[in-house]
Amino acid sequence: MVQVVDAERTAEMRDVLVAELRTQGMIMSDAVEAAFRRVPREQFMPDDTDLAVVYGYDRSVVTKRDGHGRAMSSVSAAYIQARMLELADLRPGMTVLEVGSGGLNAAYLAEVVGSQGRVVSIDIDPEVIDRAASALDAIGHSSRVRVLVADAERGVPGEGPFDAIIVTVGAWDVAPAWLRQLRPDGVLVLPLIMNNVTRVIGFRRDGDHLVSTATEVAGFVPMQGDGSRTDQVLELPEPSGRKVRLTFDSDAPANMSQLDGVLATDQIEVWSGVTIEHGVSFADLHLWLAWYADGFCRLSADEGTALAAQKRWFPFAVVQEAGFAYLALRDALEGAGAEFGARAYGADGQVAAAAMVEQIRAWDREGHRTSPTFAYWPTGSDPARISADATVMDKTHGVLTISWPRE
Ligand SMILES: C[S@@+](CC[C@H](N)C(=O)[O-])C[C@H]1O[C@@H](n2cnc3c(N)ncnc32)[C@H](O)[C@@H]1O
Repeated sequence: MVQVVDAERTAEMRDVLVAELRTQGMIMSDAVEAAFRRVPREQFMPDDTDLAVVYGYDRSVVTKRDGHGRAMSSVSAAYIQARMLELADLRPGMTVLEVGSGGLNAAYLAEVVGSQGRVVSIDIDPEVIDRAASALDAIGHSSRVRVLVADAERGVPGEGPFDAIIVTVGAWDVAPAWLRQLRPDGVLVLPLIMNNVTRVIGFRRDGDHLVSTATEVAGFVPMQGDGSRTDQVLELPEPSGRKVRLTFDSDAPANMSQLDGVLATDQIEVWSGVTIEHGVSFADLHLWLAWYADGFCRLSADEGTALAAQKRWFPFAVVQEAGFAYLALRDALEGAGAEFGARAYGADGQVAAAAMVEQIRAWDREGHRTSPTFAYWPTGSDPARISADATVMDKTHGVLTISWPRE
């Protein structure tokens, strides 16, 4: 994995990348900027990786897939590495744990905490750790990072307490071991899965619970080991035999057999009147639906299905009894951008579409122009102190809350 490259060229590419990360607000501190200027990303990528990808702003590189082709390990995209380093609020001399390794982010961490700091980087996969160790060695960082094979769910015996823990793999919950190993004022940065929608959240510990400081949109490979989760997937065959899949995070509605044959029914559309300008992100609408829409699920469709052939649909749906509706967009009148709506199937398709449109309108009234905050209350903390205007989501080891500030 040691690439022979033109050092001048890659130094220039690092400068260009740093400038873009600064412009986009992903790098905010001189320490993170210096780390990105110093560490040669290409040394942590597969040999044949194009340098334009290596130094791309938002290009992740998959380094391992499972038997079904699902990405299990990757080198994260530069923008989210930078953002997570900033969210960790690191200082020289700090002790930091990285969950999910590969070497590159560990090298950045080592640069930021400096020679008086300590970096521990773990991965459940021995191959990833071998690769990380040899790449860190190649750039002369092996003495600055301890890499080891471990399942993060169980923490890292003999290490800590940590000033910061950065989790770089999709987590459904906050493992109790992380909180046991986090300092009283420590920072936990993790991609948290909330009913099928992931947000990277920076949390700072506040007594017995965690309070969010900021969030970022990103996708991550799934957690393996004791903290892994199995989604519930409902397959809906089209008359052609091709399938549409509904994936539920935890609470799949009872009596799903009511959806048998649903794709053979006529499609209906309901539009919300809620519009968005072209090019503006509506990722928070997905988050809103994940928190508030009953029967929320992810939607995917085989190539060749009628659904896959449609334009401007998004992989989020709601199921209501014998119907399901999914999020759609159409051009709004008089150049007002695009309008959100729902397309639906089944005997209860109208009900499902109405439920989705109701939530689109609720998001527009109460969430659209603000950003949510989160808190995590581990089991054993005092839930009586949860703010009255927060909405609660149960997790295995505690509860997560979301609040949308009033405008
Ligand atoms: C996105 S990659 C890590 C990327 C790396 N931090 C970087 O920035 O280049 C996620 C890694 O998490 C690892 N992983 C998955 N489940 C884990 C677990 N329970 N404990 C430790 N590592 C885990 C995977 O093997 C994978 O290598």
